Amino acid sequence: MSGTPDPTRPLRGRDLISAADLAPDEVRRVFATAERLKAEFAVTRRHAQLPLLRRTLAMLFERPSLRTRVTFEAGMIQLGGGAIQLTAGNVGWGVRESVADVARNLGSFVDAIIVRTGPHEVAVELAARADIPVINALTLHEHPCQALADVFTLHEIFGSLRGLVVAFVGDGNNVFHSLALIGAGQGVEIRLAHPPGYAPDPAVVARATALAEANGGRVVLANDPRAAVDGADVLYADAWTSMGQEAETEVRSAAFAAYQVNEALCAIAGPDARVMHCLPAHRGEEITSEVMDGPRSIIFQQSENRLHVQKGLLVEVLGDPA
Ligand code: CP
Ligand code: NVA
Repeated sequence: MSGTPDPTRPLRGRDLISAADLAPDEVRRVFATAERLKAEFAVTRRHAQLPLLRRTLAMLFERPSLRTRVTFEAGMIQLGGGAIQLTAGNVGWGVRESVADVARNLGSFVDAIIVRTGPHEVAVELAARADIPVINALTLHEHPCQALADVFTLHEIFGSLRGLVVAFVGDGNNVFHSLALIGAGQGVEIRLAHPPGYAPDPAVVARATALAEANGGRVVLANDPRAAVDGADVLYADAWTSMGQEAETEVRSAAFAAYQVNEALCAIAGPDARVMHCLPAHRGEEITSEVMDGPRSIIFQQSENRLHVQKGLLVEVLGDPA
């Protein structure tokens, strides 16, 4: 984190490690900036103003990525700045030098850091040690940038978010945690159908429930996917095995076999229900190709919105005043 608080620019210099780091009105602020930037970009695929001119972003990736890496780097370039990708092998934190020393160095080289790593505590430590903003680009516990794009997409498609029902089918994982936190703050009813043993972190559920109660949403946990999707506006699928859990793939495939988002499950939700997936998808496992490529899918709009929403976030955190 960096800078002195400015009441007119509440996100300037801020970290984003947990989706709960943003208050509901701050989320809407990011959405408003993203909406403006998306509309501007749609016309010529250029931006007339460059609010990130010569700003620099270090991107620390200890896990593979297509969407997060490319959208952050493309977003920086399109807004006048640049991004530097660093892999675990380049940096070797905890091996070549400590996380604290990496943070201290990067703080004097670049304007912000995004980090994708397994242990959430590493992202927390990096943010605590760096005197520049640090943004979580996925840990095993949270994926806040994904959730911002997801809820922005819901806002685009449905307009009002209050009372909207999103049924997440599968693992109570990083993507679910962040979606529950951002969604609940916007009044969405977030349901999860998970197999026994794959429940979300109770601390996240408690936080999301408190946010839901304050903002008109709900958080509902269940084991039966059919009950969870009944009456849902949106079904949400994610991988059964997240990055870093590969040793559990076989056990998880058996545990999640009944948690596939397919036409039969969508039919319970109703003819107008839409389908989301954060990607990458494992077609034929957590989602069928029929659903993914069918008329219910808003998956590629959701993916495109990673670009627009992260630009909105970067402008709010780093940008020059308009
Ligand atoms: N959804 C998402 O974060 O995709 P990547 O892993 O490709 O970045
Ligand atoms: N839950 C998945 C999301 C990938 C974007 C994972 O952590 O691998």
